[in-house]
Amino acid sequence: MPRRLFVTTALPYANGSFHIGHIMEYIQADIWVRFQRMQGNEVHFVCADDAHGAPIMLKAESEGITPQQLVARIAAERPQYLDGFHVSFDHWHSTDSPENVELSQDIYRKLRAAGLISTRTIEQFYDPVKGMFLPDRYIKGECPKCGAKDQYGDSCEVCGAVYAPTELKNPYSTITGATPVMRQSEHYFFSLSDPRCVAFLQGWALEGRLQPEVANKAREWLEGSTDEDGTKTGGLADWDISRDAPYFGIPIPDAPGKYFYVWLDAPIGYLASLKANCAKRGLDFASFVAPDADVEQVHFIGKDIIYFHTLFWPAMLKFAGYKVPDRVNVHGFITVSGEKMSKSRGTGLSPLRYLELGMNPEWLRYYLAAKLNARVEDIDFNPEDFVARVNSDLVGKLVNIASRCAGFLVKRFDGRLAALDHGAHEGFARPWAGPEAVAALYEQREYGKALREIMQFADAVNQHIDAEKPWDLAKDPARTADLHRCCSTALRAFRDLVLLLTPVLPAMAERVRGFMNLPALDWAALAEPLPEGHRIEAYQHLMTRVDPKQLDALFDAPAATAAPAPATASAKAAASKPATPATPATPAPAPEGTISIDEFAKVDLRIARIVSAETVAGSDKLLKLVLDAGEGRTRTVFSGIRKWHAPETLAGRLTVMVVNLAPRKMKFGLSEGMVLAASFPDDGGGVFLLDPQDGAQPGMKVR
Ligand code: 2FM
Ligand code: ZN
Repeated sequence: MPRRLFVTTALPYANGSFHIGHIMEYIQADIWVRFQRMQGNEVHFVCADDAHGAPIMLKAESEGITPQQLVARIAAERPQYLDGFHVSFDHWHSTDSPENVELSQDIYRKLRAAGLISTRTIEQFYDPVKGMFLPDRYIKGECPKCGAKDQYGDSCEVCGAVYAPTELKNPYSTITGATPVMRQSEHYFFSLSDPRCVAFLQGWALEGRLQPEVANKAREWLEGSTDEDGTKTGGLADWDISRDAPYFGIPIPDAPGKYFYVWLDAPIGYLASLKANCAKRGLDFASFVAPDADVEQVHFIGKDIIYFHTLFWPAMLKFAGYKVPDRVNVHGFITVSGEKMSKSRGTGLSPLRYLELGMNPEWLRYYLAAKLNARVEDIDFNPEDFVARVNSDLVGKLVNIASRCAGFLVKRFDGRLAALDHGAHEGFARPWAGPEAVAALYEQREYGKALREIMQFADAVNQHIDAEKPWDLAKDPARTADLHRCCSTALRAFRDLVLLLTPVLPAMAERVRGFMNLPALDWAALAEPLPEGHRIEAYQHLMTRVDPKQLDALFDAPAATAAPAPATASAKAAASKPATPATPATPAPAPEGTISIDEFAKVDLRIARIVSAETVAGSDKLLKLVLDAGEGRTRTVFSGIRKWHAPETLAGRLTVMVVNLAPRKMKFGLSEGMVLAASFPDDGGGVFLLDPQDGAQPGMKVR
């Protein structure tokens, strides 16, 4: 019986482009999904933009657009990544959608009817200038322990003290700089501490559907911990699910001015996307989400959001009368050459730049697959290892088989396979675990192990070719039958290797399907060797080697493209040929008070994305900006705009920067460029950072 699978990846926030961490998760899930489809299972693989919340609202506001416009702009970027890396979602939706409003409100009403919603008045910081309650991340002040300035509301980066935002001295709102005041507000809570929730989660989380290390975490959260003196702390607390207006979110029914906290409606977005997918395909959504639905619900997520997915999410579904998740597959983070990734900035490896450089997406799919396993472990992208692994396995072992044998078969035997050589064919089965074991490894997400088995099979085939030497057989007319048999054996094995690798290398498999005239790329075909007389077409080029220079280009900043200094250019010209009036040794001087176009061109202006912005301890003028000017690395710039720009409103925004300004060593660090802003000479009336028109991309030259 085919299985029915509902598979998701975590919904990315709609305020930034994908980074390599997102792409890794999508590739991990996509390999699993493609494997399941090859098994004949019915898969519904969906995702969506996580659109709501204060950061998106404030970012849109800072750009002078609506949150919906911001979300739409980010959504428009998604396909180039997803198509580029062959990620085969069936549907991509948004949590800011009618389906999600309806589902979130329905789930809430059912939880309320079950007696699991309560209200409580809480005290919270409020920004009187902005007129909004402040999430902790928008409050800074002096550390109550060591007095360090500009510390966040939860902990001090200087002395490491941990505290509540209310303990900060001289707190200020990072949105307006105003001193926040304490204000009361009624909040809505989901009663996670209710004995029904605790009992349900103890069963759900601890009955084998989670990886052991994830189940251990869940157990700790569920049971709390016991101190040395025997005092029990922790256990589940009720969850605050409401936020006050202004908030970009879904209104809470019967609670004017209250919205669902973004983390309530985000996972419900999985269902909203599935519902839209069902509508698109004429499927009955209810048959997927009913508590007894014959569907496996599988979520792929990162290790930073386990709490939401193993406690809140299953409990919400359970007590609202929906189907609960069957598996939550958690992966670790990706580092690049050992460098940790930041959630907003990603790493130095830009997936878009990877694609723009024309690097083969299947190199990355293969490399990541080779590193992935079923545990919650971080994996590292190492450029040298990447080149070596891809070139050795994919080109040296896999493609080499077809490129060495297909030509002979087509030229000498009309592309037709000889009768099966049982001995050789079955001999290949010995050095590796076989298709069933590989299938089990894919199923368990042990991709690294699966690929190691497959490569042992490839090694055996290459050894066979090396021993038979078809290039020598081809020279001896008496050995034509041996040549035919050898090449047929190798190509039958090649077909099997490609089928085994199809979940990882779908585009290459499709090209092989074309030239080898394969009816379909399904797992069942592995049981049947290609028959005698099966005809293949002329070999089609399948994959090139990685050139290490491509990795240099991926990580290095592109060379500054400012026009060379005229004096240097003309000096070179002068050395090769005498100057003529048509090629003056020096450009004609520009009229007084003007500059020549060459002088203007010396300033290398680029579109840059502000990756992060923060205040600088010890300076009331500067903001520290981290900028992405499309160079595959970021630059730090200290800019005197603090008085006019709250750092939280800047992250994600595009602006214009000078990239070839000589770096300047400042008291606070090295400043590597300058951002452009508009103001009157005395800054009266404010300072306004330049915004490019929609559509501009980091790295574009401004001229
Ligand atoms: O951590 C994040 O990036 C969240 N946007 C993930 C949400 S996953 C799901 F719950 F929607
Ligand atoms: Zn401190």
